[in-house]
Amino acid sequence: MRRVLLYSPPMSKEQSQQLFQEIISHCKEYGFIFPSSEIYDGLSAVYDYGPYGAELKKNIQDYWWRAMVQLHENIVGIDAAIFMHPKTWKASGHVDAFMDPLIDNKDSKKRYRADVLIEDALAKMEEKIEKEVEKGQKKFGDAFDRDKFLATNPNVLRIKEKINAYQERFKKALDENNLAELKQIIVDLEIACEVSGSKNWTDVRQFNLMFSTEVGSVADEASTIYLRPETAQGIFVNFLQVQRTARQKIPFGIAQVGKAFRNEIVARQFIFRTREFEQMEMQFFVRPGTEMEWYEYWKQERMKWHRSLGFSPERLQYFDHIKLAHYANAAVDIQYQFPFGFKEIEGIHSRTDYDLKNHQELSGKKLQYFDPDTNESYIPYVVETSVGLNRTFLAVICNAYRTELLDDGSERVVLSLPPFLAPVQIAVFPLVKKDGLPEKAKEIFSELRWDLRVFYEEKDSIGKRYRRQDAIGTPYCITIDHQTLTDNTVTLRDRDTMKQERISIDRLKTIVADKVDWKKGLQ
Ligand code: GAP
Repeated sequence: MRRVLLYSPPMSKEQSQQLFQEIISHCKEYGFIFPSSEIYDGLSAVYDYGPYGAELKKNIQDYWWRAMVQLHENIVGIDAAIFMHPKTWKASGHVDAFMDPLIDNKDSKKRYRADVLIEDALAKMEEKIEKEVEKGQKKFGDAFDRDKFLATNPNVLRIKEKINAYQERFKKALDENNLAELKQIIVDLEIACEVSGSKNWTDVRQFNLMFSTEVGSVADEASTIYLRPETAQGIFVNFLQVQRTARQKIPFGIAQVGKAFRNEIVARQFIFRTREFEQMEMQFFVRPGTEMEWYEYWKQERMKWHRSLGFSPERLQYFDHIKLAHYANAAVDIQYQFPFGFKEIEGIHSRTDYDLKNHQELSGKKLQYFDPDTNESYIPYVVETSVGLNRTFLAVICNAYRTELLDDGSERVVLSLPPFLAPVQIAVFPLVKKDGLPEKAKEIFSELRWDLRVFYEEKDSIGKRYRRQDAIGTPYCITIDHQTLTDNTVTLRDRDTMKQERISIDRLKTIVADKVDWKKGLQ
């Protein structure tokens, strides 16, 4: 059957927005993601994962863990507590430096991140360049040379020059922590509030992103503790114990998956930026002086992992940080092209010995490693890979979501998830609810579920059942019909091609297990 994809690139901004809204509705309707505490009208930017969402998230997490821990003999995993001694956050620099610059619009009272306002305004100027390109394309037709046009068109050159000048000012203001200059850039760019439409701004001020709470039942015994804003510190404070107990030698890594919390000024774009989220982090401890080699190594490795999720190369890009985090001497993001543009899903940072040195100083405990190869003790340098589990989830869903127009005029929504990540890997259907077919189907279902994530359903027509599985991304469905009872064969239907083949039940487990094998992604 011929299938035409609705929403195929290049898309207009309106189409991209519509697509994103459809993805959000789809996630709710099919049990992936619900707004939290919705019976009380929800809590802004907080989400719960439903039956298929929880399964998909867990599968992404397991896939990361396998790639990082199971496949590296020199990486081990831990699971540290969310609460940590308050001094941890002093040593890590988060108490003094984990800030975002915020600005309020005096008329709407809406609060913004000053740096995001500027980034968005510069992105809009970039869009103007694309509009010029479209005009050029129309004018010159087949003779249009994009590179030449970008290098010579006076309008494009003028916009580029303006963007570069602002970018230079922006970088300098961030580096120097110059809040007055950040405000001046907002004024010069003539940025208006999206709610009031006015340019009536407060001054820019710094806002610490950590959530704090009190521990202890008696008021004066209470002390302020923080919800961790990154999982990494649980790894740093345990570094020597892990190294000794896991008998690791440098270079080696410690991996962890867990919740992190940030009081984001603007939480938005569904699960992209939330105040509670999960990180999958790995700290790689190396000999000082070798950190840039490892930084390059992990940059490449992590990009390979993202590609193995089925993201095409043109949907992924590196983005060098304009402003380095307080702990880093080099940092790059891996960005995915969401419907709302290229955005960070993973950060790779060279963190030097910043964290371990500060923990050693503040705790008074030595955090040095004795290197048997060189006979010296030193504080290792660290290269970190830090990927957001929820953001990867969103990228996986956006990448998989398709609406197809079929030959018969009907539409189908399909999630083309990588089979190893799919919440359900195979659905088992008796063709009709009689003649012994349900009994036979249940027998097969019971057998398969020891090895695969299986779903059984006998309600509604086969067509409707296929559509429901397409919508949650189930790569294979089998149908048990009257022929099954005579020759022990079933039809195996492929989600993406919609083709069906007849196969023997004896071969079923082997065939499907091979198709959904997670190793396929990484080999
Ligand atoms: N330990 C380093 C660190 O935390 P980061 O770049 O601030 O670095 C790493 O965060 C990853 O965590 C990001 O690439 C992103 O995927 C995820 N992340 C950060 N803030 C987030 C938020 N508010 N909501 C969802 N994911 C977030």
